[in-house]
Amino acid sequence: MRIGMLTGGGDAPGLNNVIKGVVTQGIKKYDYEFVGFLDGWKGPLEGLTKSIGLSDVAYIHDRGGTILGSSRTNPMKIENGVARIEENLKKHEIDALIAIGGEDTLGVATQLHKHDFKVIGVPKTIDNDLSNTDYTFGFQTSVAIASEAVDRLHTTARSHHRVLVVEVMGRHAGWIALETGMSGDAAVTLIPEEKYDINQVVTWVKERYARDQYAIVVVAEGALSLDGDLVTKDASLDAFGHVKLSGVGDSLAARIEDLTGFETRSVVLGHLQRGGTPVAFDRNLGQRLGLKAAEAVNEKQFGQMVALHGTEVVLVPLESATGVLKTVPAARYQEAKAFFGA
Ligand code: F6P
Repeated sequence: MRIGMLTGGGDAPGLNNVIKGVVTQGIKKYDYEFVGFLDGWKGPLEGLTKSIGLSDVAYIHDRGGTILGSSRTNPMKIENGVARIEENLKKHEIDALIAIGGEDTLGVATQLHKHDFKVIGVPKTIDNDLSNTDYTFGFQTSVAIASEAVDRLHTTARSHHRVLVVEVMGRHAGWIALETGMSGDAAVTLIPEEKYDINQVVTWVKERYARDQYAIVVVAEGALSLDGDLVTKDASLDAFGHVKLSGVGDSLAARIEDLTGFETRSVVLGHLQRGGTPVAFDRNLGQRLGLKAAEAVNEKQFGQMVALHGTEVVLVPLESATGVLKTVPAARYQEAKAFFGA
């Protein structure tokens, strides 16, 4: 059998581990051949491929990014997109396709499955916001990077008696902010799931400042105040209709400085959170998901996605990952709030 594989959307540490898992299991156990499609859905749309063998997945266990490249190309928005993909899969004699991606990539995979394509999904996003899987790989690495940054910011904020606002990724879900803020002893953490009241934020910052003469605030890029709009980088949209976020840290820092008189600066961690070496959890999760995806192809479980339930890797319907986003439950945010202020 010839299996196609692609990685789409924003990259996440652990992608190469998934590829390693799929290829290792597929070749050693099932004698499959692999065709890598390059740059997400752009690969099957334009016929951009490279063959992948065992030697290509040797020593990629600790490499961030994806050896297949990625993009946010949306074939559903391109004329004859589905037909062009079908043609290229035929041309390359592909029997099944493994799509590794987040909400958008798996959303396209779900549509293609409805067009009778033989697709298996692998959930990926540093945001950890896909439903029906307990964790997505990449998330733990992002939290580790952001927490280390916050630890470093504590010492400089303390020395200069400043408030430092740290903006982390998280468009619709505040998982990265929640876990970074809690592990990094933030005075306040703000997430997209709950609109914030600037006066309450200021109260928490003042309390912490009175105790420590400095404070750290963690804010997710998609966080919203009760009286404000989403802060975006510019007005442009990507192929899936998403605005580019970033800027909430700056505007929040300006408001805090204004209302407290404390010198306040902001730091945007941005793509640092997606780059570099995956932590062991993400490497192993990626590799286990990859093994299971190859098995799912062998068992002809098309239209399914591999997922982590507790400690087990299982199969769930593709659709169930993307219908509703997995956001931070109010009770989890409540736990974090116990540490806000002083
Ligand atoms: O992949 C998820 C994510 O990292 C979001 O947290 C973030 O909003 C977005 O990607 C940024 O995407 P891009 O790199 O395309 O600007």
